[in-house]
Amino acid sequence: MSTSHFLTLFDLSAGELNQLIDHAIDIKTRLKEGKAHTPLQGKTLAMLFEKSSTRTRVSFEVGMSQLGGSSLFLSPNDTQIGRGEPVEDTAKVISSMVDGIMIRTNEHAKIQTFADNSSVPVINGLTDDYHPCQLLADMLTFKELRGSIKGATVSWIGDGNNMCHSFMNAAEIFGFTLKISCPENFMPKAELLAQRANNIVICPTPQDASESSDLVVTDTWASMGQEDEKDAREKAFAGYCVDDAMMKLANKDALFMHCLPAYRNSEVTPSVIDGPQSVVWQEAENRLHAQKALLEKFLA
Ligand code: CP
Ligand code: NVA
Repeated sequence: MSTSHFLTLFDLSAGELNQLIDHAIDIKTRLKEGKAHTPLQGKTLAMLFEKSSTRTRVSFEVGMSQLGGSSLFLSPNDTQIGRGEPVEDTAKVISSMVDGIMIRTNEHAKIQTFADNSSVPVINGLTDDYHPCQLLADMLTFKELRGSIKGATVSWIGDGNNMCHSFMNAAEIFGFTLKISCPENFMPKAELLAQRANNIVICPTPQDASESSDLVVTDTWASMGQEDEKDAREKAFAGYCVDDAMMKLANKDALFMHCLPAYRNSEVTPSVIDGPQSVVWQEAENRLHAQKALLEKFLA
């Protein structure tokens, strides 16, 4: 089907993404001024969560309501999805009744199959490989606080996970340098690194990565689905906790971001995440504004 979807940042052009972020700033301003903006009246978003969520669920649900539409929360526990109804069949049925579908799932291939069988736009609310909606909020937050990210240096410290992969995509699209430092066995996927090599510098230590950075980013060491590896990962990631000494190596006005949920004294010290350079609360709130701009683009 020729419906457009938002499965990775590359589903939109750099121009479209920049426009979307500008529109999110406008939507946010209007909301704070108490002005209604309801372009999605009568529209429905289905939200299918195969993993837990606080921010993604609340921001999409509240976002749809503020835009004048409605949303429904679906989980494998209370639908036929959890009892083995094929993804293809589920996609055909749900998409025949709603105007858009947000999915949080495991394998990226699954959301791709879902999208291939959906007659309405599918939005990626996180897979094992990507979390593009989070990047919309992160790019919006940087723009609000520092202006254009083009030419900036961003440091990714910790696990080469779905968030890291999405930052790799963003580096190419938005034109920044991404310095990555991960323990040896926790690097981003090699084929994705090879595709995005132009904008990426692999650093031997987290200190090298944070040096002269404009934005330091980390994430949990054990993503959803890796709970059994938590103890082993705590050991493997020793030395990768973003602390004050690392932040001192970054530029003086460097920001700290984390998609949340955060685990203090694992991937980040309380002094950093709760400190003056951290913008994690603005970043989390911006999920709402960025996704409202996204929903308007795909569902209006
Ligand atoms: N950052 C993020 O996606 O948070 P949730 O898992 O709470 O949705
Ligand atoms: N990497 C984390 C992000 C959570 C929003 C995970 O996949 O669990």
